[in-house]
Amino acid sequence: MKILDSDFIVVGSGLAGLMSALHLAQRGTVLVLTKKAVADSNTAWAQGGIACVMDPSDSFDQHVSDTLDAGAGLCDESVVREIIGSGPEQIRQLEAYGLKFAELEGSPSGYDLGKEGGHSQRRVLHCGDLTGHEIEQTLLRQVADHENITLMEHCAAIDLITTGWLESRGVGTANGTPIMPSRGAASENQCVGLYAYDGARGEIFAARAPHTVLATGGGGKVYIYTSNPDVATADGVAIAWRAGLAIKNLEFIQFHPTTLYHREAKNFLISEAVRGEKALLVNANGDTFTRKFDDRGSLAPRDIVARAIDSEMKSTGAPCVFLDARHMTKDFLEKRFPKIYTTCLQYGIDMTSDLIPVVPSAHYFCGGIETGVDGATAMPGLHACGEVACTGLHGANRLASNSLLEALVCSRRMADRLAGDASHSVCREIKVPAWHYGDAVPSDEGIVVEHNWNEVRTCMWDYVGIVRTNKRLERAERRLDNLRAEIRDYYLDYFVTPDILELRNIADVAALIVRSAQSRHESRGLQYTLDYPDRNDEAFAHPTVIEDTPAGGQ
Ligand code: SIN
Repeated sequence: MKILDSDFIVVGSGLAGLMSALHLAQRGTVLVLTKKAVADSNTAWAQGGIACVMDPSDSFDQHVSDTLDAGAGLCDESVVREIIGSGPEQIRQLEAYGLKFAELEGSPSGYDLGKEGGHSQRRVLHCGDLTGHEIEQTLLRQVADHENITLMEHCAAIDLITTGWLESRGVGTANGTPIMPSRGAASENQCVGLYAYDGARGEIFAARAPHTVLATGGGGKVYIYTSNPDVATADGVAIAWRAGLAIKNLEFIQFHPTTLYHREAKNFLISEAVRGEKALLVNANGDTFTRKFDDRGSLAPRDIVARAIDSEMKSTGAPCVFLDARHMTKDFLEKRFPKIYTTCLQYGIDMTSDLIPVVPSAHYFCGGIETGVDGATAMPGLHACGEVACTGLHGANRLASNSLLEALVCSRRMADRLAGDASHSVCREIKVPAWHYGDAVPSDEGIVVEHNWNEVRTCMWDYVGIVRTNKRLERAERRLDNLRAEIRDYYLDYFVTPDILELRNIADVAALIVRSAQSRHESRGLQYTLDYPDRNDEAFAHPTVIEDTPAGGQ
């Protein structure tokens, strides 16, 4: 089996992964693994932008206050202050890499700042509605030119290699010394790399490094309807949990209110920035309905707007609601929302004269691996950054466009923390056992995988969606128990494929979402349950943390 050595491994090639790689490459060699083509990331799909205080009439305090308000009592205020306060410096770093944000002549900041739900000010830096794409391309150019970075496409992480796991298999270092003596207590479980599947060669290899960064993004694909690209299968959360890491706040899944509803459109988002430019949500009769739920109407925080749409659709029986953007001119749309405008036209919807049919869909994981602002996890050698991590910024509901800001700041903080680490040489001496194929054979049951994919995702949509109940969660738990047992058998019996790896991950994470939701007996932020419709600060003003290692380990 091939073993690749580097100083740092980064899993994922979105903003968090590429920024981490660029910062860490100043300290050593970086191996970036990405499971599809390099630009297939959640970041590349981001339309909105980066929320940051740039306008003289705005302030860090206002941005903090909006973030805390959306987070419904569960944000960590010191984290919120640190990330928001560090924003402008990191924006300048992106600009130094060559990114050009949209400008507006005569505006006090010089930028054309957008507005999104829950923000009291215009503060979203953007590149039209192609912000994610532009960021991705800018960072890829930097990475391509960097001699310390090796990027491998079509390589999917399978599981971490930890010292605890190696010791349980009687493996040490080549010269017989205890594993990683220079870092942490000898008994402390440490991460020394991972196994990965190379899709281009159809083989499993090990990557070995003193530091592994999970920057795998979110997991919208756990649900049948999502705004996320196909890569968003919550891999990092599943991988970390299987290695014994604590997973925090996973009940808080953000549903974006406005994904295009059209039988041929897959996962296409209509950015909240469209509502920021005064588009209104209306029902089939053309009536606005969101003010019944919140005075801020169509631009209330996402949890409120998504629930308002869900309620409107359920009470009227309509399959969707509509976005009315007909006050916008063709010229304005072509400049500000070129992607949305042309995509809608492609589906026969002219935004200047037609209503846009929209539905909510799974969009963002506010929870994830319990992590500090500096990406530190509880396991030495393992770090997490971006949507996969739960730093305390988002609390029970993320404020729009705060996530790219978080990834920018946290990747920088992580690299600064790791600047002085000196455990590099020892790691290369660790013996890594070859992947154990057991009695696995090539699969002739692809249909089972396909079927289980749909079952997990439909089950989550039906029972663990925008509105939950105890009964629905119990049903989901039972179904997922059966499905996970079947998937585990399949994983052991057949050769690994990218599909089975992703399926195993979405099923594990689906079960974690259910368990997190079951343990919160209240409604707060993105967790809304008919059995406990009120917020209960006395009993639940704290994060949900799942700490157990799964039975049987990795
Ligand atoms: C959007 O453009 O509506 C999405 C932005 C975000 O999720 O932060």
